[in-house]
Amino acid sequence: MKTMRKISLIIVAITGLILSDAARGQTAGRIDVQLDQPGITISPRLIGLMTEEINHSFDGGLYAELIQNRIFKNDPATPAHWSLVQRENGEGAISLDQGDPVNSGALSTSLRLDARSGRVGAANDGFWGIPVWPRTQYSASFWVRGSADFNGPITLDIESNDGQTVYATAIVPKITTGWQQYTAILATGSVPTSAGNRFVISISAPGSIWLSLVSLFPPTFNNRLNGNRIDLMKLLADLHPSFLRFPGGNYLEGDTIVDRFDWKKTIHGLDQRPGHVGPWGYRSSDGMGLLEFCQWCEDLHMEPLLAVYAGYSLGGEHVPAGPKLAPFVQEALDEIEYVSGDVKTPWGAQRAADGHPRPFHLNYIEIGNEDYFDASQSYDDRFTQFYDAIKAKYPKLRLIATAGVGSRRPDLQDDHFYRSHRHMERDVGHYDDQDRGGPRVFVGEWATKEGRPTPNLQAALADAAWLIGMERNSDVVIMSSYAPLLVNVNPGASQWSTNLIGYDALGSFGSPSYYVQKMFSRSRGQRVLPVQVIWAGPSTRPAQLPKPAGAFGVGAGTTTVEYKEITVSNAGASLFQMDANQGTSSWKLNKGIWSESDGVLRQWADKGESRAVAGDSTWGDYTITLKGQKLAGENGLVVLFHYRDGENFLRWSIGGWHNTAAAIEQISDGVTSQISESTPITVQSGKWYDLRVELSGREIRCYVDGLLTNQATEIAPAPLPTFFVLASRAAHGPEFDLQVVNTSDHARRMEIDLEGMEHLEPWAVTEVLSGQPGDSNSVAQPQKVAARRHDITNVSPIFEHEFPAYSVSVIRFLQQERD
Ligand code: AHR
Repeated sequence: MKTMRKISLIIVAITGLILSDAARGQTAGRIDVQLDQPGITISPRLIGLMTEEINHSFDGGLYAELIQNRIFKNDPATPAHWSLVQRENGEGAISLDQGDPVNSGALSTSLRLDARSGRVGAANDGFWGIPVWPRTQYSASFWVRGSADFNGPITLDIESNDGQTVYATAIVPKITTGWQQYTAILATGSVPTSAGNRFVISISAPGSIWLSLVSLFPPTFNNRLNGNRIDLMKLLADLHPSFLRFPGGNYLEGDTIVDRFDWKKTIHGLDQRPGHVGPWGYRSSDGMGLLEFCQWCEDLHMEPLLAVYAGYSLGGEHVPAGPKLAPFVQEALDEIEYVSGDVKTPWGAQRAADGHPRPFHLNYIEIGNEDYFDASQSYDDRFTQFYDAIKAKYPKLRLIATAGVGSRRPDLQDDHFYRSHRHMERDVGHYDDQDRGGPRVFVGEWATKEGRPTPNLQAALADAAWLIGMERNSDVVIMSSYAPLLVNVNPGASQWSTNLIGYDALGSFGSPSYYVQKMFSRSRGQRVLPVQVIWAGPSTRPAQLPKPAGAFGVGAGTTTVEYKEITVSNAGASLFQMDANQGTSSWKLNKGIWSESDGVLRQWADKGESRAVAGDSTWGDYTITLKGQKLAGENGLVVLFHYRDGENFLRWSIGGWHNTAAAIEQISDGVTSQISESTPITVQSGKWYDLRVELSGREIRCYVDGLLTNQATEIAPAPLPTFFVLASRAAHGPEFDLQVVNTSDHARRMEIDLEGMEHLEPWAVTEVLSGQPGDSNSVAQPQKVAARRHDITNVSPIFEHEFPAYSVSVIRFLQQERD
């Protein structure tokens, strides 16, 4: 039975600062949860992981190998990351050598070390240092052959960079003149933890040795050979991820077809893996190969979500559908067989030979990555060829498309979002109106991109709000994965600004967004419960009407265009005039491919949105006149005005909506609202149009060839929501959870009204993540912002609870067990 005690709903006019509701001793509003009316089912796969080799995610990251450039292929000219050590009057040299290699494939280059006198060695500086921990065993291995006049011994040391302190040593007493692989254990004693160290292989007698595949591993997760870092695997395990999307991302595609993730070169022993150049500016060892990705899944009980190369690489190369694509389709079929085939199949047998007879269970295959970047627009046909071949052999596999396709209906569509916190918070309802009859959605990459190298609390709050949006739409959004997952935080190690988990050689930490993923992943229920928030007063500050001012610009959407005779004036005074042969220096080109000649500004990119912006952010009333011509493509012409930043501006599209209409749109925090009527229009290619935009205060009037085509009044955007709630109940058992995000700068005391719940335990457990918006974590302060647990002891069908400023809370309620 529920006691009805409704708070009085008073609408208060808010002036100035909103006081803490706690300070006022009142509730700010009420959260009504309808426990007896479960809604949509939440996908059990909603939260997973996405990974690729970026930011030294694997080499210098999760993959525990400590030697950088272990097969000497990073730089064909010099032994990068290796240096000569000469001690005890040592004299000698190191050099790359292609003669008489271990094999002519992966290990075709070796490191030659010549000692003339004293002690001479080769030192590897690792990935920003070789980590030393006390009482730790390191497993070293290497291939070596000696000159006729040298047969040993060889000394292996982990020592400080200045060579003054040796932390662990091993000796290989004898070697031969033929290639042999040796292994050794180096054990540290009670030494201090440090990272400023190197690994040295040295000899003390005159002679020469040749080294290949030099490797050093610390203890690994589950003691796997060729395995992963324990600290990072533990952080990942705590996320309870349901799947792993691999191997990318851009890393799947490579800059060129040759440098794609060519999975057949990432299997077998390490002596068969040549590595390859990844798209993020460094060479990958491929120690993290196809089998290792699957074993990672096995170790963390994740389902593998395999992305197969689909014939498009980042530099623009593509393989057209048809016979030329057939070998790549076969490559994908073989890959699926390697992962999931029985040992009686050829590639299943290869997996068994590589050490893993048991097949991995596959349900989802992604075909390519972000193929909307393929300017040749070949994806639909390529997808069809992959789809038909995979479905014919594996009808149960569900196939994910990475761009819009028309010829086949994908089982899932992969959507990606990298946005500001305001954009995320404003667009939490993104999937509320999604067509439930269409393909389901995999949000395969998403992040609030604020904070470097990992997100700050502000970003984490927006992430939590966005997760609530996906969870409440989990009948359609069935999977999601934050990206990128990992970042080595050493200077120069990363290529992407905002990443979930950071580390250096010694330590690691989860960002505030990591804690959001962890809280939400663990609190994932089985059914969404209806929830309503009723405010006692205004829940947000009224939105500020933006000052009607900003720069101007031109643009295009998936169309090549030209603009000329561009002028901007205010009451007869010229503010801007485009002169011939000025180049593009007066424009801020933030998207597209732009050039200027003879006074014509041309946009060449035939894919995506393009913008060129000029002028001043303070410009208010002005008139833009120009001529615009469409060359080719899907849409027409675009004029921008009152441009404040990339997420806040106004846009007049002439021939938008697949070249069918003209209308004015206002973009606020990245979210677009149409603010004028649509006027039917089709822009003809090769014809110059006279365009004019008149801005007076908030009034906008737009003319094509002298005719008023559209007019509108700039609007105040809706206030940014600052409070997000989701309730869900467990599949079985007596639990249900409330997830609450309060992005505002004040605490909110709320009445929580649990309707339809009987026999409620009087206590609940809550996890709270809070702090200041700019707060973030680091190796030195890994838990500055981390979820803290508290007990709530006043639970009843109606009770009050305070949600701190800038916080994410998950409350777990329990029903009493009854006989
Ligand atoms: O996550 C970083 C990159 O962003 C991915 O490699 C790519 O798919 C996307 O553009």
